Amino acid sequence: MANIESILSQFWTGSQPAHGLPADAYRSQEFWDLECDTVLKQNWVCVGFVHELKEVGDVIPVTIAKMPLMLLKNTHGEIGAFHNVCRHRCLTLVDEPKNVGKLIRCPYHAWSYDLAGALRASPHFGGMDQHRPEGFDPAENGLKPVRVAVWHDWIFVNLDGHAPEFEEYAAPLIKALAGMDFSKVEPIGTLDFGEVATNWKFIMENFIEPYHVQFVHPTTTDQPLGDHYTFIDGNCVGSAVDLEEEVNTGNSLAVSSRYLALFPNFILGRYFPDQIGVYLNIPLGPDKMAQKRVLYTTEGQTLSDKEIEALKGLWWDVHKEDHEMCERLQLGRQSPVSDDGGMLSPHWEDSVRAFQELIAKSVAGSQKSTAGDING
Ligand code: FES
Ligand SMILES: [Fe+2]
Repeated sequence: MANIESILSQFWTGSQPAHGLPADAYRSQEFWDLECDTVLKQNWVCVGFVHELKEVGDVIPVTIAKMPLMLLKNTHGEIGAFHNVCRHRCLTLVDEPKNVGKLIRCPYHAWSYDLAGALRASPHFGGMDQHRPEGFDPAENGLKPVRVAVWHDWIFVNLDGHAPEFEEYAAPLIKALAGMDFSKVEPIGTLDFGEVATNWKFIMENFIEPYHVQFVHPTTTDQPLGDHYTFIDGNCVGSAVDLEEEVNTGNSLAVSSRYLALFPNFILGRYFPDQIGVYLNIPLGPDKMAQKRVLYTTEGQTLSDKEIEALKGLWWDVHKEDHEMCERLQLGRQSPVSDDGGMLSPHWEDSVRAFQELIAKSVAGSQKSTAGDING
């Protein structure tokens, strides 16, 4: 812990321009372990998309804070979340997205759970044809549920069960999206980037600062730096650009936009007049994360396959440009030059600093929840 304390004390020095989080926050196992125990357990973490669980019995495994979890669609058509672990010998139950029908059957000794998590079979557990030995209560051995919230197409979990209700937690984001008709939000395409060799925080930070946009995306975007501004409201941080003219040709992005993050890992980009993109960012270790992006229309418009492919191509390129920068940020963290965290623009990267302060407070075990900071 001494190391963590020194990381945090370096971060809170008050020097101007402010430094970023010290390099150890992105490379050390100790910091990652602590992040898993705090940031990723105590907050609402985005874990998946409702539209990917189409049929009853669809199950998707996901790992958060090192814990194997599963999302599923139950017989009521609702989304459920459970620890993805058999109650017999604690094998992970589901290792890839699939439809399990009515029962999740453990491949090891065939214990089977229904979609509400109840244990329905424990064959021969007490001896031949003795499925329920004395003292063994199936009702006590169902799947362990995880607190889940579904907000439009997005699934969140709160592992420690103590975060405020989702709508309260996400109030600043909900406010920032006022006026959007969510009933018209339709997924039109998915980009699955798989693993990216960077700390997940770099991906978040990259998204919420406008400073890099015209330098990293000179051909894929047309959003002049001077038109951008940052946005900070408690656990919702980001940036925005307001343009007088909007042109979204599929070749380059030149529309007014909102780049909003909900701490810790949810990202929603709103591109006026009629599109949003939501990223699923899964932290996997100090130097590894996975990312997916779903593209949505928001005004019920129909796009041709060609238009959708063009949009997917554009976003693929934009993300790849960002991934390269984030991977290089990670590589830079191997150098002692990065020990003090580099420097943040007081103008363009105050949103990054705000995100990092949420991280620093969360790992420090601040008794105030992040939502308390926001709303209080
Ligand atoms: S570990 Fe699952 S049935 Fe034995
Ligand atoms: Fe970018």
